[in-house]
Amino acid sequence: MSEIEAIRAQLLADIDAASDAGAIEALRVAALGKAGSITALLKTLGAMTPEDRQAKGPEIHALREAVTAALGARKAAMEAAALDVRLAAETIDMSLPTDTPPRGSIHPVSQVMDELAEIFADMGFAVATGPEIEDDWRNFTALNIPETHPARAMHDTFYFPDTDADGRAMLLRTHTSPVQIRTMMNQEPPIRIIAPGRVYRSDSDATHTPMFHQVEGLVIDRGIHMGHLKWTLETFLKAYFERDDIVLRLRPSYFPFTEPSAEVDVGYKQEKGRRIVGGHGDDDGHAWMELLGSGMVNRRVIANCGLDPDEWQGFAFGVGVDRLAMLKYGMDDLRAFFDGDLRWLSHYGFGALSVPTLSGGISA
Ligand code: PHE
Repeated sequence: MSEIEAIRAQLLADIDAASDAGAIEALRVAALGKAGSITALLKTLGAMTPEDRQAKGPEIHALREAVTAALGARKAAMEAAALDVRLAAETIDMSLPTDTPPRGSIHPVSQVMDELAEIFADMGFAVATGPEIEDDWRNFTALNIPETHPARAMHDTFYFPDTDADGRAMLLRTHTSPVQIRTMMNQEPPIRIIAPGRVYRSDSDATHTPMFHQVEGLVIDRGIHMGHLKWTLETFLKAYFERDDIVLRLRPSYFPFTEPSAEVDVGYKQEKGRRIVGGHGDDDGHAWMELLGSGMVNRRVIANCGLDPDEWQGFAFGVGVDRLAMLKYGMDDLRAFFDGDLRWLSHYGFGALSVPTLSGGISA
């Protein structure tokens, strides 16, 4: 065995046996450092005759390359093994309770939606949903809103540039009423649902944001009349505002999808710069405030959904969730709802574990 072959065999064996990063580094210095064995071999090249150099040169350079590669491979293998050991040791038991309380809070809009779901569940209503991207048939046409209705103008509605596969214009729903259509088309009556969710209109000031929240209510059954509507709204608002002196005033109004239609006002009193809901709006110090839109579902809407309006009747209503939250919890600027300001959220937010229940107090 030549001297070079002997050095190679020894070094590779030593590298293979090295047990830690320190040993690898010591071997590197001993072979490739200033006074290293391979460095010494490289230095002998200068004193050789050209013929010897041509013969020995490639052999010495190959030795250096082989040792460099072996050092790198051994080091990488040791690092990978160390990582495996660390990963195996650093386990986290996700089932253990935390030692710090949760820091997030439930947004007032989510809280109010939970409260509404709880109140209406008690009256036998299920929660229905629909997509925020709708077609103009469900958002308008099926709801008896004709092509020429001002609500269809580009001014109010966010349209998408392209139509869907059936050639229908696509838009961001402007109200939760299309969920009425989806529910009547997919479900056999009797129907009792609420549909909370986001809606969009091109509008922005202290009391209007381009995105806001509504909750739709829909009942379809036999022999339904406006008395059922009024009782349902009264029962809902008493439970929601947690007081018995809620007085409603139904004013004749117009919505294309209800006939007759009624705007519902609630009595309130101004106290310390806040509107406190309750009492008869015509009593001393009281006034009426418009709260929601409602009415008996228009025969044409029932027929558009494939149901026989001579057999099935019902009522519907729609109310702003953000406004309900502002009235109950005393916020005055709607825009703050969507700013994501942590100070506002921690002030007005709700504990993640205080779920509203009728028995435990609806706003906990
Ligand atoms: N969709 C109506 C609106 O957004 C509210 C409404 C719903 C009115 C259901 C009557 C019946 O203003």
